Amino acid sequence: MTQKQLATAQRLLPGSGLFIAFEGGDGAGKSTQAKLLAEVLQRSGHEVVLTREPGGTPVGEQLRELVLSHGQGEIDARTEALIFAAARAAHVAQLIQPALSRGAMVISDRYIDSSAAYQGAGRGLGSTEIEQLNTWATQKLRPTLTVLLDVNPEQARARRAGQVPDRMEAEPESFHSQIRSAFLALAEQRPAEYLVLDALRPAAELHAEILQHPVLQRALDGVPSGAADRGKTP
Ligand code: TYD
Repeated sequence: MTQKQLATAQRLLPGSGLFIAFEGGDGAGKSTQAKLLAEVLQRSGHEVVLTREPGGTPVGEQLRELVLSHGQGEIDARTEALIFAAARAAHVAQLIQPALSRGAMVISDRYIDSSAAYQGAGRGLGSTEIEQLNTWATQKLRPTLTVLLDVNPEQARARRAGQVPDRMEAEPESFHSQIRSAFLALAEQRPAEYLVLDALRPAAELHAEILQHPVLQRALDGVPSGAADRGKTP
């Protein structure tokens, strides 16, 4: 365990929950890993809230449908960024923050970094501006740990073969390459808060490595709950 990882683990305080986000390109296998982690935490006696973005609340699910389905006509980039941020604001206010206050473990399939990568880099709106918008929308709530499942877009597309692509998945390979680079850059900026893994490794192996992270070791070692990193955005 590095000093920085130790510091991250030590931020866990009894009485408030732990917030883990899974990030990565389309087809990286985030949902599978989020679910596997949720099962382990549940079995160890924690209250677990497994959720996703966009979504997680009635308003968020409606916004998801609006922004991902085809047939809404054109959605310009700023509108798209605001829809994702609006869904996230509802998610934090109505689901994530109340769960953390109860001491639950919240696992979210995607969070702010998806907006920084897809809207900031992919749509060219600028990662800094998108982060500022989302810092406001989330009242500065950041995950304690983000697991980034890094995947080459070409291989991810092959994994999804046969599925009908949503609005984002239908974007060209260059868009998805920009997104991959943006995720990796975000992880490099705050290495202590990220676990970056090669998404093409076998799911069981990835799951085992995620469980080894100090933040999760501490949660599984009988510490009833942890502290999400509230208000730590510089
Ligand atoms: P998701 O259902 O997680 O897609 P997948 O299961 O294919 O990974 O996310 C839906 C899509 O929405 C995905 O293409 C990424 C995109 N997205 C954004 O562009 N910005 C965001 O802020 C979020 C949360 C998702």
